[in-house]
Amino acid sequence: MLSIRSFLMAKFYDASMRKTEKRCLGSWRKELLGNLAGEVLEIGSGTGVNLSYYPHNLQRLVLSEPEPNMRRQLQEKVDRQGAQQVKVVGCGAENLPFSEASFDIVVSTLVLCSVTSPEQTLAQIWRVLRPGGKLVVLEHVGAENDPRLARWQRRLEPLWKYLGGNCHLTRLTAHLVERAGFAPELERAIMIGAPPVVRPVIKGMARKSP
Ligand SMILES: C[S@@+](CC[C@H](N)C(=O)[O-])C[C@H]1O[C@@H](n2cnc3c(N)ncnc32)[C@H](O)[C@@H]1O
Repeated sequence: MLSIRSFLMAKFYDASMRKTEKRCLGSWRKELLGNLAGEVLEIGSGTGVNLSYYPHNLQRLVLSEPEPNMRRQLQEKVDRQGAQQVKVVGCGAENLPFSEASFDIVVSTLVLCSVTSPEQTLAQIWRVLRPGGKLVVLEHVGAENDPRLARWQRRLEPLWKYLGGNCHLTRLTAHLVERAGFAPELERAIMIGAPPVVRPVIKGMARKSP
């Protein structure tokens, strides 16, 4: 049953996001990823939507994705692009198979909602980042400033998680990032075109102390 849900999610992910990508996600991805440099790790890369937004002259780009159906599409996109410095790795973000301080930047877009443990994931991101390195974040979050929407997020979360690959609606990710030790520079935004329960978003970056 889980594998059917995973298969369907991977198959229809790009199509289901198209409207939101056009209305806001695409320009946010461009703004957040377009000027990155150095060695970059992306967690939960999914079907590889971010791939076309990275600069071509990155020193190294590692795209990690634990779900095999998503990863297949990701690998196909990487192969089509033919970029030598891009590598696809199959792993969850709670257990990153990289040594300490091996990346300048870690990218997480719409992933911290779905990982089993955001705390463990953030600890792993901290570990693999070099001192002064940065975590680039684009995540939908719990509606802290809208009690009515927060109530709907709580009500719908069990079903949403079941159908949406463990995607949580109520995570207060900005606080988790700060609690993990990062110095966040995050702004709040609204994901226009998405269902109301996933509209509250944080985006920006959070730095590991030098
Ligand atoms: C909503 S999709 C986002 C995909 C992509 N990052 C994007 O911006 O479109 C969530 C992704 O997180 C991945 N994921 C789920 N659990 C994960 C985990 N524990 N570690 C890393 N990635 C995970 C899913 O397989 C899926 O590809």
